[in-house]
Amino acid sequence: MSWALERFGDRIVVASSFGVEDVALIDMAAAIRPDVRVFMLDTGRLHQATYDVMDRIRNRYQLRIEVMFPDAPRVEAMVREHGINLFYDSPESRRRCCLARKVEPLKRMLTTVDAWVTGLRRDQGVTRGQVAHVELDHANNSIVKVNPLADWTSEQVWDYVKANRVPYNALHDGGFPSIGCEPCTRPVKPGEDARSGRWWWENPDTRECGLHLKV
Ligand code: ADX
Ligand code: SF4
Repeated sequence: MSWALERFGDRIVVASSFGVEDVALIDMAAAIRPDVRVFMLDTGRLHQATYDVMDRIRNRYQLRIEVMFPDAPRVEAMVREHGINLFYDSPESRRRCCLARKVEPLKRMLTTVDAWVTGLRRDQGVTRGQVAHVELDHANNSIVKVNPLADWTSEQVWDYVKANRVPYNALHDGGFPSIGCEPCTRPVKPGEDARSGRWWWENPDTRECGLHLKV
């Protein structure tokens, strides 16, 4: 994190969904650079608890969080054509929604920077085993993607958050290890895969929303 913030200055931004990894990252980044840039993709379908922790983080670290909204005409057309809950219809419909509500706003944000920081970890499941600390993001103009927690376990992240009294999303205490949009996230049972509550109706190997594709 120190290397990345020093190397890229204003041209790097932390991506935060305000899950436990991301609040840990913000705590680390703000200690190094109090005016670090942080963005969140507000899909319009998030849990109230996510907005609550975003506000607590904003106040605690005095950050001007860059909230990205989807393109309104695009979402209006999608909902008119396919319905508000289209994601349950098919993997194509689900990807269409993620594309409009998350991926397009992400791409818009990433055109303003040379690097971004994420909370990706290798042990988050089948799709994440190859995550490196520093990568080139070929899906986004080959900018640099920094994943400081790539080799951290969930336990290490929680130890950090508790030790530093970092505000975290209350849903984590209710069986949600991984939190996305409200209609597409459900709690998991003890011992179940951390991301199995995300798009639970799909096959495990298709459960990525497009934020972290390789091409
Ligand atoms: S997702 O692709 O399935 O949604 P996940 O929730 O595991 O991803 O989060 C992985 C990382 O992607 C987070 O640590 C964060 O850096 C980034 N991320 C995910 N969702 C958002 C969001 N809504 N806004 C900003 N960054 C996000
Ligand atoms: Fe749409 Fe669900 Fe993707 Fe959120 S996670 S953008 S609601 S399909």
